[in-house]
Amino acid sequence: MRRLALVVVLASVAAACSGPTSVSTTATVISTTTTEPPTTAPPPPSTRPPGPNETLTSIGDPYYPGLGNGGYDVARYDIELTLLDGGEIAGFTTVTAVTVAELDRLSLDFGSTEPVGDGLVVDAVRVDGAPARWDHDGEELIVTPPAALAAGATFVVEVEYSGVPFAATSRALPIGVGWYEGASGVRYVIGEPDGAHLWFPANDHPSDKATFSISVTVPAGTFAAANGSLVDQIDDIGTTTFVWEEDDPMATYLATVVVSDRYTLVRDEAASAETGIEVRNVLASDLADDPPAPLGRTAEMVGVLSGLFGPYPFDEYGVAFVDGFGSALENQTLSLFDTELADAPILDLVLVHELAHQWFGNSLTPRRWEDIWLNEGFATFAELLWIEAEGGEEAYRDEIRERTRQVRAFGLGPPGSPAPSDLFAGGVYQRGALTLVALRDEVGDATFFDILRAYTDRYAYGNVTTADFVTVAEEVANRDLSALFDAWLYDDQLPD
Ligand code: ARG
Ligand code: ZN
Repeated sequence: MRRLALVVVLASVAAACSGPTSVSTTATVISTTTTEPPTTAPPPPSTRPPGPNETLTSIGDPYYPGLGNGGYDVARYDIELTLLDGGEIAGFTTVTAVTVAELDRLSLDFGSTEPVGDGLVVDAVRVDGAPARWDHDGEELIVTPPAALAAGATFVVEVEYSGVPFAATSRALPIGVGWYEGASGVRYVIGEPDGAHLWFPANDHPSDKATFSISVTVPAGTFAAANGSLVDQIDDIGTTTFVWEEDDPMATYLATVVVSDRYTLVRDEAASAETGIEVRNVLASDLADDPPAPLGRTAEMVGVLSGLFGPYPFDEYGVAFVDGFGSALENQTLSLFDTELADAPILDLVLVHELAHQWFGNSLTPRRWEDIWLNEGFATFAELLWIEAEGGEEAYRDEIRERTRQVRAFGLGPPGSPAPSDLFAGGVYQRGALTLVALRDEVGDATFFDILRAYTDRYAYGNVTTADFVTVAEEVANRDLSALFDAWLYDDQLPD
């Protein structure tokens, strides 16, 4: 039987929380400093160098050759959705990109090889304002511009589409990704790793980050949230358009929308004042009126993590609770949680986990899916740091022992190169976190946290590989660490 990795994570955390290691004191053994917003403006989305393996319909990631496309680098997505009756949407996505080679054709990822019903149908495509020919087959939308695009040219592709969006089975884990509708009627997106192109045409690979504007038109009385900041709200006859802007580079899998007539935007003024970022949550009225206690600790969590990892990378943070999802996902600046987690005893650890992803995964994004432990191992390690901040070193050590026991009991494998069909394997999370525990023990606290901060600073808003992290670690520690990383990341045998 296959099980979702997060189930293992949650189970392990639940076991820990019911044991004697649960929060008992507030002694802080690790120094924290107050958060300051990033002092320098982030660079524009980097221009991706053309990869050696890229083709028209592949960016060349051996784990999932169907994802991403060659020949161009997206700078920005402007996504406009209108929600119509019967679950239908009208979509209009503008992709602004730069060619990395001369192009007479280009491909966008869009749709599914196994659509539900008619899926999403392309109605028109334009390149630089001129109607273009297109061929939409399965997951690829191949566009032929009226004239070839020169190397290094900026170009704009507009795609109009319509239909009823849906969720489809991911190629990376045995559950769905894409467009969901919960029993309460809330609609939302789960993009990681291959669901983004189920709702907008994209270069759907984390190595091509871009800025986003997401605008959602809904019936009056309905609320729509997306990543970043709500920059405009336009009331018309019978409709409202919510315009959201994420002006820091974002991977496609982190783009989201949450739509419901039961939800509102709840600003947390105290947390905003304390952190210097805009803290806002997207909540149904029952949770807005009676929020779970750990949600009131966002500023504290941002304080602890930014003290250890470096400044929080984005301008906003918050969460949304949605039903029917089953786990949690770190969408950039707006993490999603299953509603059932709201009263789970492990909620604080899941909140810390998804918050930690804003550094590890969202600001520093894997260049290839094989290195997913750079997300999940680090976010799981952050749970241990929160336990340490709460309960001191003894609680931290107890938790490590408990997780080590589980890695052995479940036979969790090495985190470095999980099977492409089981990308979120338990070992990626738990043995990934233990890899960082081992590194910390090996180099000592001062060097270890210097490594983390050098890493988040050097690669902020960009892409990373495992080799990048190892290089920073070896540079800062000023010694060879290859034996440690090889054993922890790739050896079937769990090191001592
Ligand atoms: N990144 C998520 C986490 O924090 C896991 C996402 C798995 N993907 C999914 N479609 N559920 O653990
Ligand atoms: Zn995670």
